[in-house]
Amino acid sequence: MTNALDGANHRALQLISPPNLRDAAVLDEGFVDLIGSREAPQPTIAQRAMNSSVVAAIYERLWRPVGVAALGLWKTDEHTKAATDLRLGGNQRVLDVACGPGNFTKFLGSRLDGDGIAVGFDISRPMLVQAARDNRSSHAAYVRGDGRRLPFEDGTFDAVCCYAALYLVPEPFTIVDELIRVLRPGGRIAIMTSCARGPAFVSKVQTVASDRFGVRTFDRDEFTTIFQAAGLTEIEREVHGVAQFVSATKPLR
Ligand SMILES: C[S@@+](CC[C@H](N)C(=O)[O-])C[C@H]1O[C@@H](n2cnc3c(N)ncnc32)[C@H](O)[C@@H]1O
Repeated sequence: MTNALDGANHRALQLISPPNLRDAAVLDEGFVDLIGSREAPQPTIAQRAMNSSVVAAIYERLWRPVGVAALGLWKTDEHTKAATDLRLGGNQRVLDVACGPGNFTKFLGSRLDGDGIAVGFDISRPMLVQAARDNRSSHAAYVRGDGRRLPFEDGTFDAVCCYAALYLVPEPFTIVDELIRVLRPGGRIAIMTSCARGPAFVSKVQTVASDRFGVRTFDRDEFTTIFQAAGLTEIEREVHGVAQFVSATKPLR
């Protein structure tokens, strides 16, 4: 451990389950690292891009705005939607999986007070270096790990989210299962991902792009069906352009 431990990182460390805590280092760059020098898997072009320092440096100001336009989201106020869907406020614990350079995490933290903390979680070191540089705050901290095995006990968080990432990862449904596992009963989950639209030939083009670049297109009902099967309630889906926003509540029992 180094002396880069600040208040927000300290609160994030306290949320990590004891067996996983053994691997934790708080780095001078300002985030908690549970992976260390082990390489993150990068089997697709999309994943290699997310592990690049160049992409991390331009992600928030250039890469994402282009992605937003490609998804048809230019009219959508995603931050306000996230705050509403997650019912943010007070001293909640919020988990932002696949946070990239923290472009949502810092905003989520800004809606909290007291001991409230938004934990940005990502597998890419360059993304988290950028997050710690640009988007740290007293309510936003960052942890490096694999979203397919979240290092938190069941029910740790009041709200969990994953934006603009499930279409890039090889096991998106494992990540969703993990998000639901670490959400407390009564807590809120929100995701934003791709959505198949239009006639069959459009879907065919989307599938080819998917195979080539590792960017997957999900059916409209894919996540609502998963949420229903997991027993979640208050399930809502909005389709904007070729993106879908799906949110729900974990039942109290
Ligand atoms: C396009 S960025 C999304 C950033 C941000 N959530 C947003 O809405 O702009 C996708 C992120 O997913 C991360 N990622 C990919 N596989 C992951 C995994 N197994 N666990 C955690 N993060 C992962 C990448 O490193 C990348 O930072």
